[in-house]
Amino acid sequence: MSSVAAIQATPTEVSPQDAWLIKFHITASIVWLVIGMLGGTLMGYRLTSPAAAEFLGSTAELSFGRIRMFHTHSVIFGWLTNGFLAFSYYAIPRLTGRKLWLSKLARINAPLVQIALVIGGGAILTGHAQAVEHTEAPWYADAAFALCFVVSLLCCVGTILRSGVRNMYVSLWYLVLGFVFTALNFVMANTIVAFVAPGAAGASLAGLWIHNAVGLWVTPMGSAIIYYLLPVTLRKPIASHKLSLLGFWTLAFFYPLGGSHHYFYSPVPWWLQMLAVPLTFSLIFVVYSVVYNFFATMKGQWKQITHNIPLRWLAFGIFNYITTCTQGPFHALLSVQQVIHFTDWVVAHAHLALFGVFSWWLYAFSYWVWPKLTGRGYSKALAEWHFWITFLSFWVLYYIPDTIAGLMQGFFWLTTLPLQDSLEAAMPFWITRAISGVLLVAGTTIYVINLFFVKQAKHGLEVAGE
Ligand code: HEM
Ligand code: HEM
Repeated sequence: MSSVAAIQATPTEVSPQDAWLIKFHITASIVWLVIGMLGGTLMGYRLTSPAAAEFLGSTAELSFGRIRMFHTHSVIFGWLTNGFLAFSYYAIPRLTGRKLWLSKLARINAPLVQIALVIGGGAILTGHAQAVEHTEAPWYADAAFALCFVVSLLCCVGTILRSGVRNMYVSLWYLVLGFVFTALNFVMANTIVAFVAPGAAGASLAGLWIHNAVGLWVTPMGSAIIYYLLPVTLRKPIASHKLSLLGFWTLAFFYPLGGSHHYFYSPVPWWLQMLAVPLTFSLIFVVYSVVYNFFATMKGQWKQITHNIPLRWLAFGIFNYITTCTQGPFHALLSVQQVIHFTDWVVAHAHLALFGVFSWWLYAFSYWVWPKLTGRGYSKALAEWHFWITFLSFWVLYYIPDTIAGLMQGFFWLTTLPLQDSLEAAMPFWITRAISGVLLVAGTTIYVINLFFVKQAKHGLEVAGE
């Protein structure tokens, strides 16, 4: 079914109950974003001045290690996951033509998700973390989160399966993949990796978890968003439905098993590391086919990004996507790995993907859907401020400096110079990163004011006709 046909086949009204549910998850996601960004900014300062290091270092809860885990917990599970749930609850009824199955349960579940996340975050800060990167909350918080996640899965995938929709639109494929795979992946990480598999075997599986958390949770959920929003904001179908399905199936086929690329030059079996190189590199073709489809859809429409705020976040996110996904295959080559592994290059790559792509597509979704749910527009001027502060401070003060810092660190470490020299070389770039943290928090504050506190604005209301 074509994208516009699929989306238009469904009613435009959102029931008050579903509107509450979607608004709840969007609000929760933004609260977690602010908390996560404050954590990131604290860490940034921690690395730039002895005074900050002394202050934060003397309070165990604010020590670098704990804040780092708390930061990723807040942004991956709090911000992105809540945002993805909001999108799923909005899009699935519209793409299947069915009401959300178990919607009452989803409304009870929504605050429970936040409780599970608060328990996990509190445990991390008070020193009860487990040693599985990017899912450091302890077992009891994980068990609570897993239960909540399964409830969301039932509501979302259940609605899709019960609708009997044939020729599913590509967003639905991505949502099913994201939910089903992530339920399995999360349970695997928090049982087998956390308690059963020892040493290098555990590390291989941890690599699988990290890799698939970003590749089979964040990526499919984000792809579902852009495949939905691009046609509706442009009011024209996606250029090629066949190409969109090719992108989906190649991601599902090639992506899952390349996880050991997070552990190059480690005690993980060499054949596994070698296998990860071609598997990872082949992703470049997947990504380029997807991006070609987006560009083909945008053809002749680029000038719309001057006034259409959601479309602008989508379009700039696409550029970030092609940048980070060009970087990715190359830094999986063993020669490049020798330089960039363990450096800030990887941190920059991670932020360009998780923030510059998927967070920006979530911004697009919230600017698009919020006026529909509340009947209230937002201020175009404030939205412009949010965009430009975020775009400039992220690219100019965070991504580019961190990438340069990473390259310098890598080349320093290949010499016999003392570690101190590489730290001193990275310092100017870490200072700009810390400044960007403050500006990004400022930009997010404007975003919050715009969505929640501006009463009279009209911008965005014209989308109600979809
Ligand atoms: C104010 C904005 C932010 C600042 C200043 C910031 C800063 C930082 C810092 C300093 C680190 C630790 C780097 C290290 O260990 O050397 C970090 C890690 C990380 N941050 Fe952020 N961050 C911000 C926002 C975000 C957002 C919005 C996301 C995701 C949506 C995110 C995802 C991550 C991830 C995944 C890591 C771990 C990276 C890795 O392991 O390579 N951050 N961040
Ligand atoms: C074709 C696209 C991509 C490829 C080939 C790729 C490849 C890689 C590789 C090889 C690493 C390990 C670098 C190292 O530790 O030395 C890495 C790290 C990372 N990538 Fe990607 N990447 C791609 C896209 C993405 C996307 C779309 C996301 C987010 C959804 C992402 C998130 C991350 C994160 C968070 C890390 C740091 C993980 C950690 O903390 O250890 N990447 N990527």
